[in-house]
Amino acid sequence: MKLLLCLTILVAAIFVVHGSSVSWGRRKNNDFLLSRQVEVRSAIKNNFWNIDVDFPRADTENYYKISAIFVYDNFKNSTGAVPGLWAGGPGYRFAQVNLRSFVNVGLNSTIEIYGR
Ligand SMILES: *[C@@H]1O[C@H](CO)[C@@H](O)[C@H](O)[C@H]1NC(C)=O
Ligand SMILES: *[C@@H]1O[C@H](CO)[C@@H](O)[C@H](O)[C@H]1NC(C)=O
Repeated sequence: MKLLLCLTILVAAIFVVHGSSVSWGRRKNNDFLLSRQVEVRSAIKNNFWNIDVDFPRADTENYYKISAIFVYDNFKNSTGAVPGLWAGGPGYRFAQVNLRSFVNVGLNSTIEIYGR
């Protein structure tokens, strides 16, 4: 119950960060860049984007342990997508990052995953 409450607060904390750049974990000096992916979507009238970005991509394998994930909002004006880490992440070999854009605004976010 307590864990659930902590998780809820954590998720809430992630979502109040308005479309800015976010990171999870800590990148060490000799970590590899395992993946860099740019997600771009154009605005949809009266609607928003809610996309899940999976690492590794479908039909690929990843043998490295993730140390850090960085999501950069390329809009740089606080209207880009709000990122959330929905599964995996640092300490795991997989991750699912969710990007949720604002209504009537597109998104352009870069997701970088480091590990060793
Ligand atoms: C997305 O952002 C990148 C980095 O700023 C930029 O190079 C690229 O042109 C942008 N893409 C679109 C479609 O705006
Ligand atoms: C922020 O930047 C993006 C991309 O340049 C643009 O589509 C959007 O309208 C901008 N938002 C504001 C509030 O200026």
